[in-house]
Amino acid sequence: MQLTRTGPIRISLIHGPNLNMLGVRDPDIYGKETFESVNRKIETHAKSLGLEVKIQQSNSEGAIVDFVQDALAWASAIVINPAAYTHYSYAIRDAIADSRLPTVEVHLSNVHAREEFRRHSVISPVATGQIVGFGPYGYLLALEAAKNLIEESHR
Ligand code: DQA
Repeated sequence: MQLTRTGPIRISLIHGPNLNMLGVRDPDIYGKETFESVNRKIETHAKSLGLEVKIQQSNSEGAIVDFVQDALAWASAIVINPAAYTHYSYAIRDAIADSRLPTVEVHLSNVHAREEFRRHSVISPVATGQIVGFGPYGYLLALEAAKNLIEESHR
């Protein structure tokens, strides 16, 4: 188990609305891999990196705000795909900003190559960084980025 000054590195990984439909929803854009399969890969990769990950999904804005607030009590970092809320949820943005936790924003698709409204993220200004366009592999990259951020902050 990877240890920091505050114990094992714990990551809160949050999926936003409609991501529970992965594998079924618009496979040309989001791929054929199911939500369950993506989550299993996330768990396996987290374990190999010595991270503890808690995966949560909601279709509701308030529940996602609650996940972010809860993370404050136990997580060292947040990995979040806010899905459509990315583009307009000031509530989720404020929760992330207030948490002061390092936050990696993930999008499966290349949002910059899609409709105009997807190019704007209200989350990015309060995230540490963004990973877009690599499909579910983006979550694995995000775990590595989060681990690196935390380790660097303890040096
Ligand atoms: C998404 C991109 C968003 O624009 C969209 O609303 C989603 C998924 C992505 O992962 O590519 O639901 O966040």
